[in-house]
Amino acid sequence: MSQLSVRHLLGIKELTIDDIELIFETASNFKEIINRPIKKVPSLRDITIANVFFESSTRTRLSFELAEKRLSADVINFSSSTSSVKKGETLLDTVNNILAMKVDMVVIRHSSPGAPHFLARHIKANIVNAGDGTHEHPTQALLDTFSMRLHFGSLKGLKVAIIGDIMHSRVAISNIFALQKLGAEVMVCGPNTLIPIHISELGVKVELEVRKALEWCDVANILRIQLERQQIKYFPSLREYALYYGVNKQLLDSIKKEILIMHPGPINRGVEISSDVADSDHSIILEQVENGVAIRMAVLYLLADSPLAN
Ligand code: CP
Repeated sequence: MSQLSVRHLLGIKELTIDDIELIFETASNFKEIINRPIKKVPSLRDITIANVFFESSTRTRLSFELAEKRLSADVINFSSSTSSVKKGETLLDTVNNILAMKVDMVVIRHSSPGAPHFLARHIKANIVNAGDGTHEHPTQALLDTFSMRLHFGSLKGLKVAIIGDIMHSRVAISNIFALQKLGAEVMVCGPNTLIPIHISELGVKVELEVRKALEWCDVANILRIQLERQQIKYFPSLREYALYYGVNKQLLDSIKKEILIMHPGPINRGVEISSDVADSDHSIILEQVENGVAIRMAVLYLLADSPLAN
């Protein structure tokens, strides 16, 4: 297979296993290229891509922009905080105005779940979901599982614990879909107020004690507390959260087993993860960021070549 089955990347849920394998294979080639002295290829030379961000981002926005530039695409960046959205313009009007400037692809981050799906129904460009509210963050899950694949060779039977604020996390949902498609076993762990009530229906294990989750897993993917999405208090204080759910060296040392430590970022040092864990040899947090550029290059390259692209 050399083409994706989709013309937009809206979520991992819509991808086939073959799609994911094709993205990984393409990303491996791009990873090799971006480690050369000349990192740029002409693949998307006549393609214009708009990065439309209605929410804050460091990694995802910079990583998409770099991926686009490495592929020689023309790039424009939009940030809602400095745009005419502030003057009352709708999402659709904003994006249609951007498209009138002959844009071929839109990478969108939005706080509303389904915003990329809405755009995909109404505009002609290829849409890439860079995170929609609490729904999905597909390129994060692709770069996470790609990074695990590089470490373990295969994800079949790999035990992955996703620890933290599962309730408000698009990273957790996309990771669950990707990990299961690739044959891994998934556990979610956190205070029960931060675990969605029906999550076990997705076929994941649920654990409320972080020590037990760590004893079980090969990989711990640690998530931050998403205070910006919390309207009410789900636990007494960050200090208490760190005490009961923070992953620190003392806890990991007491388990006496090697666990690969991952985190999608941004990390809150001393809350969900201590500095001595985040910066340890077992942590691949910055490798994840590095792999993100290759994964996003692969996604953009393959979508541009999608049979339904035009
Ligand atoms: N992992 C992630 O989505 O980070 P940003 O919010 O900085 O893009």
